Amino acid sequence: MMVITLLLATELAAALQVVPSSEQKRVQFDKVVQSTYGRYPVTISRGKGCVLYDDDADKAYLDFVAGIATCCLGHGDQRLVDAVSNQMRRVHHVSNLYYIPEQGELAEWLVKRTRGASRVFFCNSGGEANEAALKLALKHATLERKIEAPVVLTALGSFHGRTIATISATAQPKYHGPNGCWKIDLFDHFAYNDVADATAAFERHKGKVAAVLVEPVQGEGGVKPGTPDFFAALRRLCDDEGALLMLDEVQAGVGRTGKMWGHDHVLSGDYTADVVTCAKALGGGVPLGAMLCSPKCDVFQPGDHATTYGGNPLACSAGLAVAKAIDDDGLIDNTRDRGDQLLTGLRKIMDAKPHLVADVRGRGLLVGMELHTPSASDLVALCATNGLLLVPAGPAVVRFVPPLVATSLEVDAALSIVEDALGALEASRNSTEQSL
Ligand SMILES: Cc1ncc(COP(=O)(O)O)c(C=O)c1O
Repeated sequence: MMVITLLLATELAAALQVVPSSEQKRVQFDKVVQSTYGRYPVTISRGKGCVLYDDDADKAYLDFVAGIATCCLGHGDQRLVDAVSNQMRRVHHVSNLYYIPEQGELAEWLVKRTRGASRVFFCNSGGEANEAALKLALKHATLERKIEAPVVLTALGSFHGRTIATISATAQPKYHGPNGCWKIDLFDHFAYNDVADATAAFERHKGKVAAVLVEPVQGEGGVKPGTPDFFAALRRLCDDEGALLMLDEVQAGVGRTGKMWGHDHVLSGDYTADVVTCAKALGGGVPLGAMLCSPKCDVFQPGDHATTYGGNPLACSAGLAVAKAIDDDGLIDNTRDRGDQLLTGLRKIMDAKPHLVADVRGRGLLVGMELHTPSASDLVALCATNGLLLVPAGPAVVRFVPPLVATSLEVDAALSIVEDALGALEASRNSTEQSL
């Protein structure tokens, strides 16, 4: 009798337990999590395909952020779920002290799809992949070219990560900390897509340029696609100097631009990169990064570089699931087609509202819409209220980086929300002007 009473009491307590609201969860979060992000008031509880849900608030969002160009298979993809759960049951982490067959398999897949590359170093993120590339370039310059004070050239408006070295590579002062306190003195910069300026930077540092690190499409810097002329010129400048051409494919790589690599749009024929870095889409949302190099600069020896987690069986099983989707399911073709649809739709909107939209550009499903005013955050907030998640790329550019599995219907739905949100932005501006 006593046991039954106790059981009933427990069930009653569970039934009466108050589930915290999304708002309460946000208050608790802000108390204990550092304020490194300006966050939108959106709390996600689950996802399926291109849709994210806030169950507490009973809201659904079309996700055109995809964890910032990362969840290439969307959310809850069965191939990814099966690959990761099966791997978890077998073995999920050992150490790079031992051979990890999944890592070898994924490296082979990457090398086969990357002209010029021969071997891979695995890590956990884009910043770490670039950090590895920088260490490789400095060792190459010091040992092979006997340079005493090497310099690495990067582009203005670039973004390469948040470690001290990659922040310094990132040529945007807003990332460099108060009085530039997070910046180290290793880099100089040139204007993106500007052959004359890049040539001048090589001239300034003649005999000392270890490498160029550059994005094939500048993502965070406002979705700016590189031009073939510029990349061909960079290749020639690097060859004349003996420097490495290192391409940061963290955002643009692994299918996002409608080709395997963003640089497949801008480097052709015999022109290849010496180093390619990637992350984001490679693990489909499971942390995984990679740095690929050509035989010419394959200079790392045991002890030079390492990471505890990099390329562990769990992460590589996710990478292999992404690889399979790319090979077997036409993921890249879909990206190209949906990208064309998105660009065409946004250009129509720009034609209808040229006073609001200044430009629409991008490759595949890495697309930016530039506004005439620095109101990208306002537009992103309006879209979120109407059920579409987007992310700014600078003050005036709204970025569209949905999962690569996005459907035609989902792209149309996103376009319609953007059109409405632009209308609302215009209306609120008009009413502000009238009240002044
Ligand atoms: C081009 C590029 N490089 C590097 C990074 C840094 O990657 P992570 O945040 O995984 O360190 C990013 C992140 O947005 C990126 O877009």
